[in-house]
Amino acid sequence: DARTSEQLVELAKRRGYFFQASGAYGGVGGFYTFGPQGAALKGNVEDAWRERFAVAEGNMEIDAPTIMPEPVFEASGHLDTFDDMLVECPDCGESHRADHVVEDNTEYEDAEGLPIPEVEEIIAEYELVCPACGAGLADQAVETFNLMFATNIGPGDAQPGYLRPETAQGIFVEFPRLKEYARNQLPFGVTQIGRAYRNEISPRRSIIRTREFTQAELELFIDPEDDEPDLSAVTDVDVTLYPASEQEAADGGHVETTIGDAVNDGVLQPWIAYYLGVAREWYASLGVDMDRFRYRQHLAGERSHYASDCWDAEAEIDGNWIEIAGFSDRGAYDLSKHDEYSEDRFTVFQQYDEPRTVERAVVDPDMSYLGPEFGGDAQAVVDALETKAERDRAAFAGESVEIEVDGETHEIPVAKTGFAVEEQTEAGEHIVPHVIEPSFGVDRLVYTVCHHAYREDEVDGEERTYLALEPEVAPTFVGVFPLQSDDELETRARDIVDELRAVGLSVTYDDSGNIGRRYRRQDEIGTPYCVTVDYETVEGSDASGDGRNGAGGDGETLSGTVTLRERDSTAQKRVAIDDLAVTIEALRTG
Ligand code: GAP
Repeated sequence: DARTSEQLVELAKRRGYFFQASGAYGGVGGFYTFGPQGAALKGNVEDAWRERFAVAEGNMEIDAPTIMPEPVFEASGHLDTFDDMLVECPDCGESHRADHVVEDNTEYEDAEGLPIPEVEEIIAEYELVCPACGAGLADQAVETFNLMFATNIGPGDAQPGYLRPETAQGIFVEFPRLKEYARNQLPFGVTQIGRAYRNEISPRRSIIRTREFTQAELELFIDPEDDEPDLSAVTDVDVTLYPASEQEAADGGHVETTIGDAVNDGVLQPWIAYYLGVAREWYASLGVDMDRFRYRQHLAGERSHYASDCWDAEAEIDGNWIEIAGFSDRGAYDLSKHDEYSEDRFTVFQQYDEPRTVERAVVDPDMSYLGPEFGGDAQAVVDALETKAERDRAAFAGESVEIEVDGETHEIPVAKTGFAVEEQTEAGEHIVPHVIEPSFGVDRLVYTVCHHAYREDEVDGEERTYLALEPEVAPTFVGVFPLQSDDELETRARDIVDELRAVGLSVTYDDSGNIGRRYRRQDEIGTPYCVTVDYETVEGSDASGDGRNGAGGDGETLSGTVTLRERDSTAQKRVAIDDLAVTIEALRTG
């Protein structure tokens, strides 16, 4: 039910996770600020992603600008095709995503890929109304709306630019340089974590659909003929898969399988399978609930303009499946486009194992019959007909070639052309690499991690809310409290804060309110451990001078010890101060 999200959004604001930005000016839809806790959690998620998808895989990370000039997006296809369907209410003027209006009010679960006339028909047939004011939408035209934010680079409007709608393009446009850093050897991967911008028609569900968000993307460049992933590390990973064929079947279902079996059964192609396996393990390590997680293949109509195959990672939030990552096969689409539209080469020279002998057409010095009326441009004929076999076929078929001389096009029959064919030895060829792209939404993951960690229980007869966050992502690892307002306790507690910070732990100090309230506050933030300094703590350290007075156990002195409390179980134990840093560090590293 939606209650968890309501509670979570409220908690997020109260405790500094995330809240609508620019609130002092009324706020504007689709922009969020991550508060101190949220920024720390998001940073931890990004670090974990970098560790797994850049460092552990040996990929290169880059940091490209978020604004790029118009030609980039002409080439990438975003200017022409990065659209959503918009329907405007004739009464209140509010704009809505037409496919959302359809999905929310009809049996159509996925209207995103449907053609506009079909969407208009559905709106009319079901007599759909404006979600804001209830006016009928039946007679409204559905339009395309480009999602890119436009701007001007420099004064005037001579140089249009766009805020990137995906971090990926920042990687593709730099390919001619990046391939050099990779010493022209495929496969190689490039990652980027950064902001992406989409002028969403109707941002919704808090940080799940915003207009400015963070993506963590990996573009893996491969030779489609030669490169295969090593699946050994992921073969046994269990996955829940919703292949397109199953979704389309009348009794549509899903498969519970392993990565290895899914590849053998032809359900997954190997590269996508590899990343689905890696990602599943990674999501689980961050605390995404694997009972509320699945992979769903896009139906043909749903796919982006650049993708030939795409699987989404989806997490269940309040009974809805939310896309948190996409794994696409982008083929040669992006690099071929940039190769075509730019001055640079977006290819990689692939050396053959052995040099190959190939037939190449060369200019025949005897081609007098091209005559002066064609400017003697024998090279143009050669360019038009590359091999002798091709020339012979075209000559036999009675075809002509077009040759341009001084801006005028002349047609000459192939049979009347002639060129020599030479055998040449070639060491390799230029190929356009294919791209496999795992693309993660960081904000949606932050939301999922918090939502799946949200718990309510009862402690000592009182209701408690807490976030059972994995220690790896928790914004604060340990809270340190003096039991009461007392100089000696406070000084000792602050010393402990310093000691723990010195070993690299994120620590918060809290001396306000009663101890129960302080525990509740840290529980809500999701802090895994709390340390409380009391009178026994300070007594011992003074008396013995070495602080080693033994901890816990009946009859033993508790001096020189602190209380260490675990968040989920609320269990407490006494730990000697001298062992505290080591004990907590061990808890952190598991
Ligand atoms: N480069 C591929 C690409 O951008 P996408 O499926 O459009 O693919 C990737 O986006 C991920 O970015 C999504 O799975 C989602 O997690 C996140 N994302 C997309 N649009 C978003 C939005 N408006 N707000 C928050 N996250 C978004």
